[in-house]
Amino acid sequence: MTGQDTLDGQKPLIVIASNRGPFSFKQDKNGEFTSQRGSGGLVTALGALAERHEVLWVAAALSKGDEAWQAQHGEQPVDVEGVRLRLVRHTPRRYDQYYNVIANPLLWFIQHELWDIPRKPSITGDTWKAWRNGYQPVNQRFAEVIAESVQDTDRPIIILPQDYHLYLVPQTVRDILGDRVQIQPFIHIPWPGPDAWRILPGEMRTAILTSLLASDRVGFQTERDAFNFVQCCRLYVDDAHSHGSRNSIDYRGHRVEAHTYPISIDIEKLEELAAENETRLLKAQMMAFVGDNKLILRVDRIEPSKNILRGLEAFRELLVNHPEHRGRVQMLALLVPSRMEVDEYQDYLQQIMADAGMINAEFSGESWEPVRILVGENYRRAIGAMQLYDVLLVNPIADGMNLVAKEGALVNQRDGVLLLSEHAGVFYELGDHALTVSPFDTYGTAEAMHRALTMSATERQERAEALRNAVKGAGIRSWFYAQLEDTMRSLSSQARKSSTS
Ligand code: G6P
Repeated sequence: MTGQDTLDGQKPLIVIASNRGPFSFKQDKNGEFTSQRGSGGLVTALGALAERHEVLWVAAALSKGDEAWQAQHGEQPVDVEGVRLRLVRHTPRRYDQYYNVIANPLLWFIQHELWDIPRKPSITGDTWKAWRNGYQPVNQRFAEVIAESVQDTDRPIIILPQDYHLYLVPQTVRDILGDRVQIQPFIHIPWPGPDAWRILPGEMRTAILTSLLASDRVGFQTERDAFNFVQCCRLYVDDAHSHGSRNSIDYRGHRVEAHTYPISIDIEKLEELAAENETRLLKAQMMAFVGDNKLILRVDRIEPSKNILRGLEAFRELLVNHPEHRGRVQMLALLVPSRMEVDEYQDYLQQIMADAGMINAEFSGESWEPVRILVGENYRRAIGAMQLYDVLLVNPIADGMNLVAKEGALVNQRDGVLLLSEHAGVFYELGDHALTVSPFDTYGTAEAMHRALTMSATERQERAEALRNAVKGAGIRSWFYAQLEDTMRSLSSQARKSSTS
């Protein structure tokens, strides 16, 4: 946590904008509000940031409680646990079009390369309506609220829009506030190469790319994502040139950097949580459930990009090709419900349950059921289970980073082996110490499971230690401060330029 905190003695105002906010609200019968802090890394990182900086967070009102909270507080940001929060309300129809038609699934599926392109998607009249009446106005409203909230300050302003929900925010903010603000979006999900973006009609694609090019710098999880973004701009945006650079684009008189900031976890907080009594109790429950079996664990949102079906298929192949593991190994999938309004997610859960059922029907013994799926959101239980795994299966088709791999590596107590897809962003940080697999290769994944289950204690220990050290070397705060330092540096050089001109 180094670098400058002020610019000419002035602390900057930092604005974070994200679809999902740091707190959700509930209103009781007497009209009183209680707030619940989200568990995401961004929220945690912000806790530390808010100690040193003034932070304004603009997010959508997602629940009835959020809407009531917003109605009570109106347009003014309100202090919640040291963060100034401003919730933005959208009409349900508009929000549904933005979130359930454009952001998830269209953009999410393009960026994770999940579409079954001979069949899906079709960009229908309804998709266009959702773009024009949902995604565009929701982004517009976000940008206006950000601009309203900062326009009276003469302090340096840094605006950090998060993720694929808010691609159009940079352009509108720039139009309203001009060059006095630093705009630096961060894209949490993969940015695929130009071919994947062919699915999106040119008008939508150009709107997204030119808006991002209104930023000063765009943050990505990996160098590959940043490189792909540069290629997309070169190919699809008139007047955008990289001049041979892999990580910057010159566009209409200004340079936009594509910079890599791999996201991480809150190491201290997770270590504390893992040691707490409640977590230990849940861990003991898991231990009793696993018994003397070896444990292959996965922890994921119910999400097609996580490749849960091929994970099950690989486990089935393990039991077929290496029958010595039957009755000795347990696969446990802790799955968190997600985006159930989107049909593809509903179907995916059904298929998972059906496939798991088939494996159990085929292989179960008297006192052994090979696959157990637990659906629900229980973070402590997940952390308890992560302490116990022999193998952690992280095999996404595509993943921006994948924090489960980092969490598992940090808290595991059994020298567990990480089985990692080469298409997860975290592969670039942890791949050397994991057993890496192609997510499409179920045979290869089954063989990797076998190798992990039969690996010598020495090799397991060496790998687990190397993983732990790699994770401990870069936590969530350094992710945040690296971005902040870059924006502060740009602000200072801007200030220098304008004072000498
Ligand atoms: C995952 C992704 C994030 C994304 C979030 C949205 O966690 O890694 O990049 O912002 O999903 O999830 P939500 O539940 O709000 O749709």
